[in-house]
Amino acid sequence: MSSKRDYIAVFDSGVGGISVLRELLKLMPNERYLYFGDSANAPYGTRPTGEVRALTLSASEKLMARGCKALVVACNTATAAAIHELREIYPDKIIIGIEPALKVAADHFPGGEVGVMATPVTLREEKFDVLLHRFTDACTVHKIPAPGLVQLVEQGKAESEETQALLAPLLAPYRDKLCAVVLGCTHYPFAAPIIQRLLGEKTALLDGGPGTARQTRRRLEAEGLLWEGEGELVIENSSDNNEMIALCKKLLRT
Ligand code: DGL
Repeated sequence: MSSKRDYIAVFDSGVGGISVLRELLKLMPNERYLYFGDSANAPYGTRPTGEVRALTLSASEKLMARGCKALVVACNTATAAAIHELREIYPDKIIIGIEPALKVAADHFPGGEVGVMATPVTLREEKFDVLLHRFTDACTVHKIPAPGLVQLVEQGKAESEETQALLAPLLAPYRDKLCAVVLGCTHYPFAAPIIQRLLGEKTALLDGGPGTARQTRRRLEAEGLLWEGEGELVIENSSDNNEMIALCKKLLRT
């Protein structure tokens, strides 16, 4: 049985899930959060799916053992690879996954051209195909994998010249051409200023973090599990690089 005071666990392959945590904190500042980033094993997005699933299940098991009422998988890649298994293993817990915000794009830009930036795993998994099929009549979707961007964000270089150099050739064909670009990886919102400059000001950037936070709140409320006592935030990381926690805190303030 979960109690209101139990943690909301937030999991990502690294520091990216901080972009979801900051939305959760805006909406529910008085909850108790346990954030775990698996930076020692990042990036997940270029690994075989089975490996991503195994890493996600193993991290989730450790988080659940610490008494969590909900698990927010703040990683599109881990959600694509393991959300069904997680729901089977923990049927009594609230399990929230994040997926590229294609619905928001289709609702706001019917008939428009939309890009989805995400990791190779997210874009090749069946879960994304299912999502794509729901919206193929509503908009034209361009898949834009961005290998290398996660590593730069993990190194604290989200807004660096290196990020600019990596993304410039990738996004040049789309400049001033798309109504919206969905940021389908939780690391990418930290590079949003560069992405926006390269795509042009008319392209809307859509991030699944706010919707994921709202969904988490809805589920907690429905189950009578909202905690409005004293808030708490624990941030942990699998990397032996001590700077990862400081980086998480810095990104949380952006
Ligand atoms: N942050 C993860 C996501 O949302 C992926 C990062 C990675 O490749 O490890 O997809």
